[in-house]
Amino acid sequence: MTALEKIGAPPTRLGDTALYDWEYLVQEDRAHRLIYTDPAIFEAEMTRIFGGTWTYLAHESEIPNINDFITRRLGLRPLIIARDAEGKIRALYNRCTHRGTTLCRFDKGNSKSFQCPYHGWNFLNSGRLRGVPWPDGYADDMRDPKYNLAQVPRVESYRGFIFGTLNLDSLPLIEHLGPIVTVIDEWLDRNPGGQVVVCEANRFRFKANWKLAYDNSCDGYHVAYSHRSLLETENRFAGENAKGMAYYRNSPDTQPMYMRYTGRGNHYKDKRPNLEKRAGGLWALESAHPGMEHYEADFISRYGDRAFSLLDLAGSEPVNINVFPNLSLLGNHIQVFEPISVEETNAIWYGTMIVDDGSIGTDGVRDINALRMRTQEGFPNFGEVDDIANFEQIQRGLMAIEDEWVYMHRGLGIPDRVKTNADGTITAPATDEAFMREHFKEWKRLMQTRANLAIRREP
Ligand code: FES
Ligand SMILES: [Fe+2]
Repeated sequence: MTALEKIGAPPTRLGDTALYDWEYLVQEDRAHRLIYTDPAIFEAEMTRIFGGTWTYLAHESEIPNINDFITRRLGLRPLIIARDAEGKIRALYNRCTHRGTTLCRFDKGNSKSFQCPYHGWNFLNSGRLRGVPWPDGYADDMRDPKYNLAQVPRVESYRGFIFGTLNLDSLPLIEHLGPIVTVIDEWLDRNPGGQVVVCEANRFRFKANWKLAYDNSCDGYHVAYSHRSLLETENRFAGENAKGMAYYRNSPDTQPMYMRYTGRGNHYKDKRPNLEKRAGGLWALESAHPGMEHYEADFISRYGDRAFSLLDLAGSEPVNINVFPNLSLLGNHIQVFEPISVEETNAIWYGTMIVDDGSIGTDGVRDINALRMRTQEGFPNFGEVDDIANFEQIQRGLMAIEDEWVYMHRGLGIPDRVKTNADGTITAPATDEAFMREHFKEWKRLMQTRANLAIRREP
């Protein structure tokens, strides 16, 4: 008996994809307003992008133990991400197979099974229906697999990051991620034991299309203007060293930072080359926040020469790594974009902590994590609000029906400015929109493809 149920082309208002001329809607230098405003395009994205390609779901450190679970979404589908009794990570549809109500109403917990609050059907965390109240009332065999919870058929992790896809033809996750894993590895490997643990989050909801956030994820052009008040605040108490993102002022494209596109919609902005290469170089960039002088003095007295390399672990890593369509690693955060409707999106900034691998000791790890919480409060509170204001104002601007295009051609057509490297990756100066032109090629590829989608149920 096959446990896979092929979906084919799910019915959407979009119907025949030929109704939309994707080549017209997304061109080399510009994108049409409809891709941000049309509910039918949004609905199609919820299968062709979210589910049609590998999508970030959660981090393994959020469900470290057998029977742990958290609730998340894949596009609009409510999911329970569970580590089942065998330790296998599953992405179960959080939807009772009886009449479709949300099965689990908790954000997280530990449970072998889930009992539906409506009529009490009970499901194991493998997705199998364990039992129903008063089964004598059913004439058919309730062990039929169709009553087991639907689940995402392919769930794979890369170094703790859990992704899922409904697309049976997607490449294995590691091949799909391709060269972006090099910089994900570097982001992880600077931490003891090469790992982080996810902690609580700063949660934002904004009234604009999800793609506006992804279009901004590698944008080095807006920083000096949109985040001017943040830059001024950060630098008010700066001595000789400029703080935070001050390197975006003056002439950012002459700085050693750059952007790189690595394929499949993934890219990163690498600001690390701007840093002084010394222990404490990252810590020196951190803007003033309460208690930092005390911690710094305390670290120097306790750790001597090692103090500044430890303080660097609390500093925000100056790289933005963006994995299409919904994941960004920013500073020390794991940021996730969750579409809600064509004009509403969640942007969730999960904080991360380092773990004790024996090289620092529990007291040191605790103190670094305490400092790290302070540094992680900075950007979401003082920078994300600037970005969200832009997204909402773009959505408003896109209501001007006759003025149809947004432009993304910065850097295009200038000889030797955007470079294709031997490995196929593309590099460009920090303020170029090359990243956006490239991720829209991937968006268009997915929107034009009839994906081979399926869900799975336990047999
Ligand atoms: S809807 Fe879940 S038991 Fe009826
Ligand atoms: Fe920004």
